[in-house]
Amino acid sequence: MAVTTHDVLVVGAGLAGMRAALAAQARGSDVAIVTKVYPVRSHSNAAQGGINAALNPEDSWESHAYDTVKGSDYLGDQDAIEVLAREAPAAIVELERMGVVFSRDEHGRLGSRNFGGASHARTYFVGDFTGQAILHVLYEQLVRSGIRTYNEFFCTQLLRDGGGTVSGVVALDIRTGEVHQFLARAVILCTGGIGRVFEPSTNALICTGDGDALAYRAGAPLMDMEMVQFHPTTLQSNGALISESARGEGGHLVNRLGERFMAKSAPNAMELASRDVVSRAAQIEINEGRGVDGCVLLDVRHLGAARILERLPQIRELALEFAGADMITDPVPVLPGMHYQMGGIRTDIRGATPVPGLFAAGECACVSVHGGNRLGANSLLETVVFGRRAGEAAAEFASGRPVPGFSESPREDEERRLRALVQRDGTGRTAALRLEMGRTMTSRVGVFRDGAGLAEAEAALRSLRERAGAVAIGDKGRLFNQALVAALELDYMLDLAQCVVAGAIARTESRGAHTRLDHPKRDDAHWLRHTLCYAAEGGPRVDTAPVAITRWEPKERRY
Ligand code: FUM
Repeated sequence: MAVTTHDVLVVGAGLAGMRAALAAQARGSDVAIVTKVYPVRSHSNAAQGGINAALNPEDSWESHAYDTVKGSDYLGDQDAIEVLAREAPAAIVELERMGVVFSRDEHGRLGSRNFGGASHARTYFVGDFTGQAILHVLYEQLVRSGIRTYNEFFCTQLLRDGGGTVSGVVALDIRTGEVHQFLARAVILCTGGIGRVFEPSTNALICTGDGDALAYRAGAPLMDMEMVQFHPTTLQSNGALISESARGEGGHLVNRLGERFMAKSAPNAMELASRDVVSRAAQIEINEGRGVDGCVLLDVRHLGAARILERLPQIRELALEFAGADMITDPVPVLPGMHYQMGGIRTDIRGATPVPGLFAAGECACVSVHGGNRLGANSLLETVVFGRRAGEAAAEFASGRPVPGFSESPREDEERRLRALVQRDGTGRTAALRLEMGRTMTSRVGVFRDGAGLAEAEAALRSLRERAGAVAIGDKGRLFNQALVAALELDYMLDLAQCVVAGAIARTESRGAHTRLDHPKRDDAHWLRHTLCYAAEGGPRVDTAPVAITRWEPKERRY
């Protein structure tokens, strides 16, 4: 199977990837998925709190859209946000009909919970394991569809024809060590986030931004990469997510003195302000000595055991296992931790990137619906709404295009390159460099940033890049060579870390999750703009682009 051909090739098998594949097939395409892990091991599994839609009669798509625009600190593109909010209700009903068993209210109807930054309770959920529930149902649909999945393949390159149109991928079969070429009339990247560029992160170890790096190297711009979300409630020991649903159900955040400190920065919304606001407030408590061993406390005890066990079973277990705290009887120590990348591969509202034949959806894409700060439970929604749109657009593109021409040389070249990489006498270990990169990013490009720290991060990444280029691959074999995969992932992640830092240096203002202590104000006059990073000799080249404003003029945010 050294060469295969499909109309549409989807890279990644999480929610966005599976939804895109199903949509492309429904439009008549022969579709396949290439994925680094088995579909049900995708990181979508880890999404806890829920999925947003204005389905309740007193709610409206306009209200959902406005909350999202405000949450984005006006950096989200409003045309894309309108699509997200308008198409949300149908997307939830579709998932329900496919078989997602959403939690119910006392009347047996779909139940919704409050989530941060939302003016209505519009988050639909399955306990606190919503992503897992949806992932398994979409996987059932995938099996039923007969769509082929190439599992445990790591993409190392996008193929492009003589005119620059994407025509497939080159991928390493992790199981056998062979290199394959997949030709396609259109490729959709759905590879998820870049979480592991930071250490720790709520993201799975597989979240290494492979699609972002592939697109970047193929000439696509990465947009707003400096917009990194730090979730207010993660565990100190391993970065695990403690879902916002704990606060949605009524949980409190308190400092060492027992004060609900959110009263200072968000007197109305309190713990349910948008995540950037809550994370900053928690980090200030910690930095100013009102924390408890580097954390603040999440207290849900007043909800009572029955509600905690019904609504928050997974996070109770996580807190018990990794923090030794039983939410029923103890407050849980938590701190802000890297959770989500708002930026990514620039796309239009149908998932098309500026590179012909290349589409993207889900966390790796930047449509942009999240702008400077994503509202909780809008990411699951984004995967299904824009996954479907990208699938349909890619199928249309593919139907008007002949099968790409074939040449053996990209596969042979890649095989030679990877063999040389494995065989070289290197120094240093990938894992150590990865940890150094992640810790540098967290300490210098975290909740609070400044010019000096960003310059240090930039220099540290240059040094890491040099050392990564000479790292030793400990495993010289072919089968399941995870040492090779890890080295390739690190190479990708260093590109992305450089883009995050370049965007953060360029954006001399504070907006959404990007807080520059040396530029503490939002500056609409200069920075109501997206940053764009292009691959260039010696590091990213930064440009900017305007934000799409349809009906909501920027104003000061208050919660
Ligand atoms: O807190 C959470 O449950 C996370 C949800 C999200 O990131 O959308």
